[in-house]
Amino acid sequence: MKIALYIILIIAIVAGISTLIHLHKVSNRNKAEMAKYSNNVELTANLGKTLVVYYSLTGHTKDIALQIQSLTNADTYEIKPKEEITQGPSLYLTSKKQISSGNYPEIVNDFPNIEEYDTIFVGSPIWWYTAAPVVLEFLKEFDFQNKNVVPFSTQGSNYGTYFEDFKAKAKNANILKGEAFNNLDSSYNEQVKNKIISWLNSL
Ligand SMILES: Cc1cc2nc3c(=O)[nH]c(=O)nc-3n(C[C@H](O)[C@H](O)[C@H](O)COP(=O)(O)O)c2cc1C
Repeated sequence: MKIALYIILIIAIVAGISTLIHLHKVSNRNKAEMAKYSNNVELTANLGKTLVVYYSLTGHTKDIALQIQSLTNADTYEIKPKEEITQGPSLYLTSKKQISSGNYPEIVNDFPNIEEYDTIFVGSPIWWYTAAPVVLEFLKEFDFQNKNVVPFSTQGSNYGTYFEDFKAKAKNANILKGEAFNNLDSSYNEQVKNKIISWLNSL
């Protein structure tokens, strides 16, 4: 009994230390990346009539989507799942199952008329190293023939195969360079804005 308790304690300590090391590495990586965006950048991009599509459970993707919207004077479309998605441990299990089965949640709101737009941004939180299932459902609904489609993501630290998966699922889209945004605290707001503008200018 005592030995079992010691083993559990050692496992917990090792797991705690590895998490701390991981967080420290991510924080250093974020700091180094954001240092590249310290100088203010002027927006020169002209992307035509633009739509920003996004899904966001906890607000990070929405924040980036609304910054793109405001910089490009775009329309927005927020993907809303028919059944409410709530945070918690069961979300990890259900979303994992949905991703592997391809059985994604239904979308409740009317779809936008993508024919009206020259450029369509699509943003998703990263779930299990790919797009949230409801965003994959959105992609399933469309043929993006003759459309410039620009993927973006927000994540803790690892966007996995999001951009490859997105490209494979956005039928016939002309995919432009995507961008990934790690969640950062508000002290990085200016740098994040410069990162968005630099990215828009590069499209
Ligand atoms: C079910 C689930 C799976 C996640 N998987 C990943 C992951 O694979 N990689 C990662 O860096 N972050 C992962 N995250 C963290 C989210 O990608 C991150 O918090 C994201 O910015 C949330 O966006 P939102 O606030 O717009 O919902 C996951 C979060 C959830 C809820």
